[in-house]
Amino acid sequence: MNHSTHLILPSLLASDWSKIDVEVKRAANAGAQWLHLDVMDGNFVDNISFGPQMVQVVRKCTDMYLDVHLMIHRPDHYLERFIKTGVQNITIHVEANYDTSVAETLKRIRAAGLHCGLALHPDTPFEAALPYVRDIDLLLVMTVVPGFGGQPFMEKETMPKLAAARDYRDAHGLSFHLEVDGGIATATAPIAKQHGANLYVCGTSAFGAPDMNQSMRDLAASVA
Ligand code: DX5
Ligand code: ZN
Repeated sequence: MNHSTHLILPSLLASDWSKIDVEVKRAANAGAQWLHLDVMDGNFVDNISFGPQMVQVVRKCTDMYLDVHLMIHRPDHYLERFIKTGVQNITIHVEANYDTSVAETLKRIRAAGLHCGLALHPDTPFEAALPYVRDIDLLLVMTVVPGFGGQPFMEKETMPKLAAARDYRDAHGLSFHLEVDGGIATATAPIAKQHGANLYVCGTSAFGAPDMNQSMRDLAASVA
């Protein structure tokens, strides 16, 4: 799959964790091909979600492509535990603390046979990703301050950066996906598409919608 394919990724953060297996199937039945898993350590972001054990539980529920977003310091330290869960993609933040380095951590993800992504906080310029753009499968441009679902889309702070990433990628013959995460709904997804996105993470607008099937159809239509 290349970056001309547009996908809606439900984020499990907004699902009902008391019946996670049912929720995973609900996403698949609503047409999701990829699921997004938000790992938060209460340190890199001001919230604690879940760790590798929960990722493992989700892995057991589905063969779907699992996209893990690590909002943690020391992704290098915890990496093996997430690799072992058998997910398809691991995204790390460029702003996190590393004992080794961002480059080394990306290399380890790739060496394990997984796809790797790099995420940028809304305050971080695209230039911070430049040293790594040849070594990633996905660039995640956060469209809210990471930590919580249900926040408003930061259009003017993040869309110029997304477009800059798209322009750089296309001018240099690169092929990484551009993912947006935070505040994505039918009104905002087309704006992100216009600026280069092709992967749209949706928490509130997917699992949180009154009718997830309908909402997933609407979201997909909004970026078709
Ligand atoms: C935010 C997380 C998101 C979150 C998005 O820190 O990375 O994946 O689930 O939630 P919504 O779609 O509600 O903004
Ligand atoms: Zn996320």
